[in-house]
Amino acid sequence: MNKKSIINHIETDNKLISILKKLPNNYWDFKYENTKEYTHSIHSYPAVMVSPISRNIINIVRQIMEVDSLFDPFSGSGTVLVEGMLANIKTIYGNDINPLAIFISKVKTNKLNINKLKKEASILLKQINDDYNENIDFYEMADEYFEKTLDLTSKDGWGNDAPVYLKKYVDSKKINFEVPNFKNIGYWFKPRVILQLQMIKNHILKIEDENIRNFVFAAFSESVRLVSNRRNGEFKMFRMPPIKVKSFKPNVLKEFTDILDKNIEKMNGFAEACNKNGSISKVRIFNNNVIDLFDIDDSSIDLVITSPPYGDNRTTVAYGEYSRLSLQWIDLFGLSEKEIMMIDKTLMGGAKFRKGFEFSIPSKTLTKSLEIIKDIDLERAGDVYSFYLDLEKAISAISKKTKTGGYQFWVVGNRTVKGELLKTDKIIKEIASKYDMDYVYTIDRNIINKVMPSLNSPTNTVGKKLETMCNEHIVILRKR
Ligand SMILES: C[S@@+](CC[C@H](N)C(=O)[O-])C[C@H]1O[C@@H](n2cnc3c(N)ncnc32)[C@H](O)[C@@H]1O
Repeated sequence: MNKKSIINHIETDNKLISILKKLPNNYWDFKYENTKEYTHSIHSYPAVMVSPISRNIINIVRQIMEVDSLFDPFSGSGTVLVEGMLANIKTIYGNDINPLAIFISKVKTNKLNINKLKKEASILLKQINDDYNENIDFYEMADEYFEKTLDLTSKDGWGNDAPVYLKKYVDSKKINFEVPNFKNIGYWFKPRVILQLQMIKNHILKIEDENIRNFVFAAFSESVRLVSNRRNGEFKMFRMPPIKVKSFKPNVLKEFTDILDKNIEKMNGFAEACNKNGSISKVRIFNNNVIDLFDIDDSSIDLVITSPPYGDNRTTVAYGEYSRLSLQWIDLFGLSEKEIMMIDKTLMGGAKFRKGFEFSIPSKTLTKSLEIIKDIDLERAGDVYSFYLDLEKAISAISKKTKTGGYQFWVVGNRTVKGELLKTDKIIKEIASKYDMDYVYTIDRNIINKVMPSLNSPTNTVGKKLETMCNEHIVILRKR
């Protein structure tokens, strides 16, 4: 690169730093901001990045350069992509390894015709209610029927063989009804919930317009978790205690209808906002492992905004586990049971280095921390190493996709392992310099409204919690 362009880059960096330094201290807190508007909250997802972060980054970067392409390599539920559309950026790419994340973000970024959506939804809800009313005993009395002979909270019997029992029930009622069958369905759902979910699914499948069908499936997916025997508010799959399972009687139809109605209003707001801004954005979302990013052209991205996982899935967020019941129920991705169960192993830090490792990651900060953790617990050190090894590969791949002079904003949290603080913000900065990225600046922000495991369970023991994070850092890099 010639001297002139180096000077230009440094001048642009300085402009950016000067804008950032002038912002008030609480600028990135978003204490009073509505983070659930537009399509942002149509489906929950762990560790979502609050929407104003990317909105503000886009606005700020646009003051110093043109932004025609935006990329989030860990796009999760698609927050950055939605904001890119609201900002009317021409080309927007997302990427995630979790098929449910891709599904949610496609739905969120697919602007629908509201009148058509409302019409289809009202036909659907009428069909569902008619079916329910015509067969109310079949749908409502299933729990009582089985409770006469089975313990619905037991892992054996109902827990193992729910589809077999349900088939007998359906046959005895002489009703033509396909019984769903996937691993542990009886452990996670009670009979009447299964029948009602399947009935709703059958009617959704009749919607001809694929975009509308997927939008409705997103509402269905969100209801699945809420009517399951799963304990709410956990990132891992923990079931309610048996006594709670016994008395649990969710209103499946109401849950689904309320979510669908709420989501339609959100889509309405989103479509109006996009129509107002002229809406030229083209969004594509890929299912690559971030360490290769095959589908994205090299040197094609002006701006990267992303929040990677905080660490390996075993001790932070198990995105696959979180998505499992939805993936099993909506069944749109051609995934086998085994592939659904394996998602977490494909996430960053999925490979195991339990017996030690050759240290090769170019970060002094990480080396120091790993030395300390290794002396306490070699296996945990292996987990930490595995995560950062993937992070290094991700930084290398994302750097290749970024144009010279393009900016990357990494929103990261620093967590503690075995008492040692892992300074991911510094580690990224150090690794990135090996991959043609210059460090520009770090913004520190308080986490006030982020739904994430600020109290996570580092030992995977129910109820055992340790405070690990209360602020996060936005590390800014620029491609050389
Ligand atoms: C912190 S979340 C991103 C959340 C997102 N910013 C949002 O607002 O919803 C991190 C994401 O990284 C994804 N991920 C983890 N390992 C990955 C890998 N190897 N390749 C691609 N995506 C990966 C997870 O599936 C998860 O969706």
